[in-house]
Amino acid sequence: MLVLIKETAEEGSRTAASLIAQAIRKNPALRLGLAAGRTPTELYQNLVNLHRSAHLDFSRVRLFSLDELIGLSSDSPNSYRAFFHQHLVDHINVDRTHLHLLNGQPKEEIASYCACYEQLIREHGGIDLQILGIGRNGHVGFNEPGASLNSRTRISLLSASTRRNLARVFDQAAVPEWAVTMGLGTIREARTLLLLAFGEQKAEAVAKAVEGPLSASIPASCIQLHSKAIVMLDREAAGLLRNQEYYQREASRLTVLLPEWFG
Ligand code: GLP
Repeated sequence: MLVLIKETAEEGSRTAASLIAQAIRKNPALRLGLAAGRTPTELYQNLVNLHRSAHLDFSRVRLFSLDELIGLSSDSPNSYRAFFHQHLVDHINVDRTHLHLLNGQPKEEIASYCACYEQLIREHGGIDLQILGIGRNGHVGFNEPGASLNSRTRISLLSASTRRNLARVFDQAAVPEWAVTMGLGTIREARTLLLLAFGEQKAEAVAKAVEGPLSASIPASCIQLHSKAIVMLDREAAGLLRNQEYYQREASRLTVLLPEWFG
């Protein structure tokens, strides 16, 4: 695991976008896993800027989404599908047939829908690079505390704390109870992970995920099982890490590792 600590979220987002751009230039048919939420918003803006100003080409890139809320109407602005369109998809030259966003209202039975999504990822050769955020309770995607470290794409009941966080965009009564999410086993199969966390409110979850024991109670700790995981933090999110000084020294390894990790 490589922990990169930047001074600000802005710098972290810019660096993350630059890593993704390098990955796309190296492999123009990159299979990229997308996360929603406030954290990666600026990263997506940076990717859009790179597309516009530096001709970053998404025409062969394939996009997969990490999770989606269940039960929202297809035109809900609060769906993650709408989020990806608003922040990325509508501003880049991605081929619409390369867009694989989870549907919170699938026509078929949910278990077979999830199995088909797994199959789809496999058929396209797996995900090369998965962007991740982290919840304050340590969740990743919608894998809530207690999720199996080997879980697959499935329906997940949202925890009370996650629902409280979602209440900032929904009326309290309208906060969804369920979501569909890639499992921790699915996420761990991505060739490289890029987990972003910014702000003091994420510091505790980050410290547990990066330096705490591997535990289903902190689903994001599953990144410890991954041999190619980058954790991109700002100063505040890194605030409770014990080994900050070591991570700072180790950060220079990135230039050596990049060609291998994004190969
Ligand atoms: C949400 C999503 C996650 C996201 C996380 C953090 O509930 N399910 O995919 O990474 O919580 O969200 P934010 O970046 O808004 O803090």
